[in-house]
Amino acid sequence: MVTTSVGVMRAVVASGPGGPEVLTVGELPDPQPGPGEVVLDVVAAGLNRADLLQRQGFYPPPPGASDVIGMECSGTVAAVGEGVEGWSVGDPACALLAGGGYAAKVAVPAGQVMPVPAGVDLVTAAALPEVACTVWSNVFMVAGLQPRETLLVHGGAGGIGTFAIQLAHQLGSRVLTTAGTPEKRALCVALGADVAIDYREQDFVEETKDATDGRGADVVLDNMGAKYLDRNIDALATEGRLVIIGMQGGTKAELDINKLLRRRAAVIGTTLRSRPVAEKAAICSSVVEHVWPLVAEGLVRPIVHGTMPVEDVAAAHALMESGEHSGKILLTF
Ligand SMILES: NC(=O)c1ccc[n+]([C@@H]2O[C@H](COP(=O)([O-])OP(=O)(O)OC[C@H]3O[C@@H](n4cnc5c(N)ncnc54)[C@H](OP(=O)(O)O)[C@@H]3O)[C@@H](O)[C@H]2O)c1
Repeated sequence: MVTTSVGVMRAVVASGPGGPEVLTVGELPDPQPGPGEVVLDVVAAGLNRADLLQRQGFYPPPPGASDVIGMECSGTVAAVGEGVEGWSVGDPACALLAGGGYAAKVAVPAGQVMPVPAGVDLVTAAALPEVACTVWSNVFMVAGLQPRETLLVHGGAGGIGTFAIQLAHQLGSRVLTTAGTPEKRALCVALGADVAIDYREQDFVEETKDATDGRGADVVLDNMGAKYLDRNIDALATEGRLVIIGMQGGTKAELDINKLLRRRAAVIGTTLRSRPVAEKAAICSSVVEHVWPLVAEGLVRPIVHGTMPVEDVAAAHALMESGEHSGKILLTF
């Protein structure tokens, strides 16, 4: 077993719940690897929408997770804990985290550490764990999207959306998506979307029906929650599956069960962060098996809006809050 000497590391600290300005870079004790864990020297961390909620005090980390914000990172292995096999000090890696990513070092269960796909540089690799694990687990493992079925993915130009479009397109599905500006819709089409719908001016239910000869979408990947629940069900095909992964449009809505029954449809909600460690490990291993080869071939690319030094963490959060970005925002150490 190799351990780091106990010292201090740079980490993003929050002076309290609030706006982006509460975030600054401070010092915290180095994490030590527990049994079954790996400590990574973090090179880059990806921003996620949930990070904004955690900063505002609405999304506390799960029990046992670091209080430091950050659900994904890339870096090199700094230490391995008891019982860990397959990782050695110095190995490049990226990881899905329950927290702690906005720091120079992070401890993570070994099952959530993944190799960097061939052809992806170490900084860019930080853009992959959340989008790959979220899209693969929800669209393919849970909703079972099949080749030639139709996926409607909301927010196609966001981190999750840019990955979902590419993966579903490469695996042979028809992809419809929504986005808020002409530039973002053009990006979605360039990534493989068959139809990009203007969610501000167009009715996505009508557009989905038009694009599918009236059938509707077999799978809808939704980031809006309550605001879109009724219309998402209207947009579903018979035996369609609506997977809700975000609540950007609120949490409480009325569900017309009759519409579900008539379609023999399913409504599923999940969060990746709260899944047990063993389930996250199974998802990571499935991602490495099924998704990394497509990334290594360059068929599915991490889309990075920008990379900022960790000292600019407040500006990075403000950028994500503005919604002006397309794809992922990364912080570097
Ligand atoms: N449950 C999970 O395990 C899990 C894991 C990861 C992410 N998520 C969720 O997935 C969602 C996307 O995350 P992200 O990291 O991709 O965030 P992001 O990059 O900030 O993307 C947010 C997206 O929301 C879109 N949007 C805003 N208003 C919309 C509307 N009225 N209709 C349709 N789309 C709208 C934006 O579209 P424009 O930019 O075109 O305006 C943008 O594409 C978030 O809600 C996040 O919390 C869930």
